[in-house]
Formats: sequence, C-alpha cells, structure tokens
Amino acid sequence: MRRPLIIAPSILSADFADFGREIEAVEAHGADWVHVDVMDGHFVPNLTFGPPAVAAFRKHVTTVMDVHLMIAPVDPYIEAYAEAGADVITAHVEAGPHSHRTLQAIRATGKKAGIALNPGTPAEAVKPLLDLAELVCVMTVNPGFGGQRFLDMTDKIRALRAMIGDRPVQIEIDGGVTPETAPLVVAAGADVLVAGSAVFKGGSVQNPAPYGANIRAIRDSVLQARA
Ligand code: DX5
Ligand code: ZN
Repeated sequence: MRRPLIIAPSILSADFADFGREIEAVEAHGADWVHVDVMDGHFVPNLTFGPPAVAAFRKHVTTVMDVHLMIAPVDPYIEAYAEAGADVITAHVEAGPHSHRTLQAIRATGKKAGIALNPGTPAEAVKPLLDLAELVCVMTVNPGFGGQRFLDMTDKIRALRAMIGDRPVQIEIDGGVTPETAPLVVAAGADVLVAGSAVFKGGSVQNPAPYGANIRAIRDSVLQARA
C-alpha cells in the first residue's frame, strides 16, 4: 500500500510578527502538517520558541502541529511542549545519552514520538529505538537555520527504510527540501517533507497564493518518484 505523502511547512520561514495568520494561510493552501522548530542556543546555534509561543501557535493550527525540539537537555521540557499542544514531538538522538528514555517520556504524554538524526549521525544510532519511535527525522542540513543547502542523505534514508521494515514508523526529511530535492528523498523512502524557504518564498499573508503554488510544486515533483 502506498503511504500518504505529508508536506509540513516550517514556520521558521514565516513572518515572525504574524504567526497566527501565516499558519492559517499555509493550511488554507495545502499544508498537511505545521512544523515548529524549537531551538535553544546550545544544542543548535540559534534561539526560537518556548512553550508559551508554541501554545499560542496551537490556537491557529487545525491540522497537525509537528514540534521539532533542537534542545539539550530535552527531557525536562517534554511535558511543557505536550501541554502546549504538540501532536508530534521529535527529539534528537544526539541530545543526550538516554534517547530511549526520551522516547518513553514522549509516549507517556500520548503524543506521537519522533527521533531526529543530524547529518553526521548514522542510521544505526536509532536502530534500537525503532520499536518505540513513530517517526524518524533525517536532517538534510545541519540544524539551526532555514534556507541552507540540501545535504544528500539518501543512503541513510534507504538504510532506515530497510531497518524499519513493516513497522508503522514514518520517515521525515528536514532541510533544503525543494521540488528538485524532494523526488530524491521520496524515492529513497521518505513520507513527510518539511520545507521552510521553499514553501514561504514569494508569498505573504497578504498574498498567500505562492504558498499554494510552492506546496503544489513539491507535491507534483514527487509524483514520478512514488509511481
Ligand atoms: C533547520 C530546521 C528546519 C528548517 C527547514 O534547523 O529544523 O525545519 O526550518 O528550512 P528549509 O526548508 O528552508 O531548509
Ligand atoms: Zn525542523
């Protein structure tokens, strides 16, 4: 059976003074999920959203709020982001020595549990976690900023797809996804495509039509890859 393809715009590329309307605009123009990048200025060299900001976004999300935690330590904050209304909570396998415990803690909140891998981390790092994770996020940039150049991780994606087998685990790709790179990762086995700059470019809350065209361009680009 063909798995559904999910497009998750990252609001890291939205207008930071207008998140509510930006979320509504991308949802109205074809977003399946809304991806929220949480950064702590320690695990990654940038700072973004605490739990109150994420709770404020939640009021505008009618699809799925996909919260990507680029923070270390991560365990002390899982409950706060669950309470803020995340539907998916993804932590990094590099964020600490106890990723298994981290996934248990996410599952205990009742949210979908994700584990992310930096470009320098091999697929094998999450092998023991695949009975616990519901999503594996493969970073195709070094995390911290939007708009970076795509790093080819297709071998890692293929290895993960084989490791996952028939377990109900989604593979998410995050970083540098465009209509040019999307077919490569989808052919390798990706289910969820995060895209920031490629979705928000050329549009605005006042002129959201480009968001729809950009999302459609990514979707159309992978039709062949999934055929
Ligand atoms: C990077 C973030 C990504 C980023 C993607 O640290 O995790 O979600 O916003 O942005 P683009 O699609 O512009 O690479
Ligand atoms: Zn992200």
